[in-house]
Amino acid sequence: MKNLLKLMDLSEREIIEILNTADQLKFEKKNGIPHKLLEGKSLGLIFAKSSTRTRVSFEVAMYDLGGNSLFLSSRDLQIGRGEVVQDTARVLSRYLDGIMIRTFDQAEVEALAKFGTIPIINGLTDYCHPCQVLADLMTIREYKGTFKGRKLCYVGDGNNMTNSLIVGGIKLGMEVAVACPKGYEPDAEIMKWAAANGKFTCDEDVLKCAADADVLYTDVWASMGQEQEAEQRKKVFKNYQINDKVMNVAKSDAMVLHCLPAHREEEITSKVFEEHSKEIFDEAENRLHAQKAVLVKCLRD
Ligand code: CP
Ligand code: NVA
Repeated sequence: MKNLLKLMDLSEREIIEILNTADQLKFEKKNGIPHKLLEGKSLGLIFAKSSTRTRVSFEVAMYDLGGNSLFLSSRDLQIGRGEVVQDTARVLSRYLDGIMIRTFDQAEVEALAKFGTIPIINGLTDYCHPCQVLADLMTIREYKGTFKGRKLCYVGDGNNMTNSLIVGGIKLGMEVAVACPKGYEPDAEIMKWAAANGKFTCDEDVLKCAADADVLYTDVWASMGQEQEAEQRKKVFKNYQINDKVMNVAKSDAMVLHCLPAHREEEITSKVFEEHSKEIFDEAENRLHAQKAVLVKCLRD
């Protein structure tokens, strides 16, 4: 695997291989078995947006793998003053063994991969969040054992998370139902692909989408970069919440996932969040293990 730009680029087999490696690395970490698989390697972490989980899990992942990481805020890089991505990519390729980038435009991540000669890992764009969904899939497998025929229901904004969840879920044979208001649907091309390649629905009716779901998922109503729309979005999304009513129509053993950060009483009630905090924080932990697997595949294999 050269890069991780988006999940659409991976086959079902490649996703399963990443999850298997992640499980193995999690076992080793829990049992104090060292896995210094990236000794002498340096990973640059470019952030044009805030982060808690992504930054910390990538830094710890590189430390555990015996490598080194450099936190590079876009604000402090010349890229923040207009140095073009083509030049940044070629320069950083001379120093580093890989780059993780979190930014706005997916095209910037693709350009970094095109002009650089080192692996590029997408740590979130406005379009997708592949690292998060690999951790989500790992968590679903831990709790449910299988993917095929399981129903994943996403409630809320059709954003970067939704796009990656649709692709990951459909590739692994899950049914995916997205409940979102009109005008806030996920990417049109991804929805077309999903409908042609699996069982996929997108509907305004939350309870219809959540019926018999094995996994319920939600994310913030206003993503990073949409802060000015936050108040207006509160009105649009007020009925797109995971609450007891939604839980009651899902399977009785349904799990709840949230990529975090969460806004309690907006996209999820405190009650549902706390009742399902075990799986939500297992999911957050799995970022570390899943990303280690991605790093090993991209920087070593
Ligand atoms: N879920 C996630 O990517 O969290 P951060 O924004 O804190 O990295
Ligand atoms: N949709 C959210 C995800 C955060 C991990 C955002 O882009 O802000």
